[in-house]
Amino acid sequence: MGLIIAGVGLNPFIRNTTPLTSKREAHRVVPPPPDSLSFDDIRMADNANDAQARVWLETYGCQMNVADSQLITGVLRRAGYVTARAPEEADVILLNTCAIREHAEERVIGRLGDLARLKQARPEVKLGLLGCMAQHNRAALVEKAPWLDLVAGPDTYRRLPELLGDSGFDAAVDVRLNRAETYADLSPDYASGVRAYVTAMRGCDKFCAFCVVPYVRGRERSVPPADIIREVRDLAARGVKEIVLLGQTVNAYRFDEVGFGELLRMVAAVDGIERIRFTSPHPNDMSPAVIDAMASEHKVQPYLHLPLQSGSDRILAAMDRGYTSAEYLNLVARVRAAIPRIALSTDIIVGFYGEEESDFRATLDLMRTVGYDSAFTFKYSVRDHTRAYRLGDTVNETEKQRRLNEVMALQEESSRTLYRAAVGHEFSVLVEGSARRGVGMLAGKTPQYKTAIFPTREGVAVGDTVVVRVLSATTHTLTCAPV
Ligand code: 5AD
Ligand code: SF4
Repeated sequence: MGLIIAGVGLNPFIRNTTPLTSKREAHRVVPPPPDSLSFDDIRMADNANDAQARVWLETYGCQMNVADSQLITGVLRRAGYVTARAPEEADVILLNTCAIREHAEERVIGRLGDLARLKQARPEVKLGLLGCMAQHNRAALVEKAPWLDLVAGPDTYRRLPELLGDSGFDAAVDVRLNRAETYADLSPDYASGVRAYVTAMRGCDKFCAFCVVPYVRGRERSVPPADIIREVRDLAARGVKEIVLLGQTVNAYRFDEVGFGELLRMVAAVDGIERIRFTSPHPNDMSPAVIDAMASEHKVQPYLHLPLQSGSDRILAAMDRGYTSAEYLNLVARVRAAIPRIALSTDIIVGFYGEEESDFRATLDLMRTVGYDSAFTFKYSVRDHTRAYRLGDTVNETEKQRRLNEVMALQEESSRTLYRAAVGHEFSVLVEGSARRGVGMLAGKTPQYKTAIFPTREGVAVGDTVVVRVLSATTHTLTCAPV
């Protein structure tokens, strides 16, 4: 799920790249940002002096990467770096990368080609590749892109100033994974705005057969609750109203006695924070304690991303997902019973190894049964290191595309129906900024994470929560009037 390139009001140090050819190609960990938003960026370069090295950082991939880029920005700023206004003006250019699917890597390889030309013209500029692709392809990168000055994996960001200092004739390479690294003591440079993403846990221990994440991000580890709460309090003091807790399997969070349900309650107890979301949970970690916290803490919003991947039990077993379609449906029923107005989204992979037409039909059937508000759909991409790698690929590209088209069409229909069903109903919307389209319109999210736009009104400011009634709906936007 999601890409993003959630690119709302991020520190200019982080250049949020435009979405990968289609939104579907991205590793989306959160739903897309509203088609809005005019946050004030945090400016850190304004007082730059000539002696300070200027950095340009581009972020690819999921919301975890966006959060990591904020962390990287914080580390480098404290080391005296400032942000560059454009890559051409930078002394250091860094790409924070994604390895989830081949397509994500191809985009970065294309970008590296541009940067290689820039390096030819200005050999003194330092080029670094960070994140999941650095971890995944370290040997090939050092061999095929010898002009890279730095190759650094996701557990090495604390050392970036040192690594940049070390890089000289040879690239500085650090791709050691560190199962203790949570960066708990390092404050990221958060974007300004009403919503902030706070990393609660890192890594993944699930080892789904198709997925490279456990290999590139390492073992699961949770940030101590005291550090998370300190961060959330600071953000609340700066006017942030909504916290999104992040982790590759965020609801697997555990630190000593504190599980994810307890963490939700602790964040909910912070004054000034009005809304809490989280992404991305795993179905098997949706414990009664988590469902209870969602149901009883009114700040926890009624929206749940519940990655399904496939509706076929045979394929779910081959994927090592750890649940059957019946268990998944049972979970959906329990969640819906506990949180009546909850919206659900999911991730679907088509064309996994061995997927027959009948398996694919089972996925469509399950999607119809659940009726998702939105879905992120992907063609299976073979990744080396993973358990499924040696099995190979049994569904050809044309067939994968056909299945993807069918899944997307079904989801469009489901989204349209559910968005239309909101017409005439009232929702509270946290105002995030002016709508991108529509002069004089404000935009924000409903509790169910649907984008709502409505006419600006005297006295309504960013950060306020207003009650609106839905007048009309498209598949992605609710047009509303304040009540
Ligand atoms: N091919 C296609 N999609 C994948 N995902 C993860 N690995 C792969 C892969 N090898 C998808 C899953 C996951 C989302 C983040 O990305 O649907 O939930
Ligand atoms: Fe990948 Fe599975 Fe871990 Fe999600 S739970 S990051 S799909 S291995």
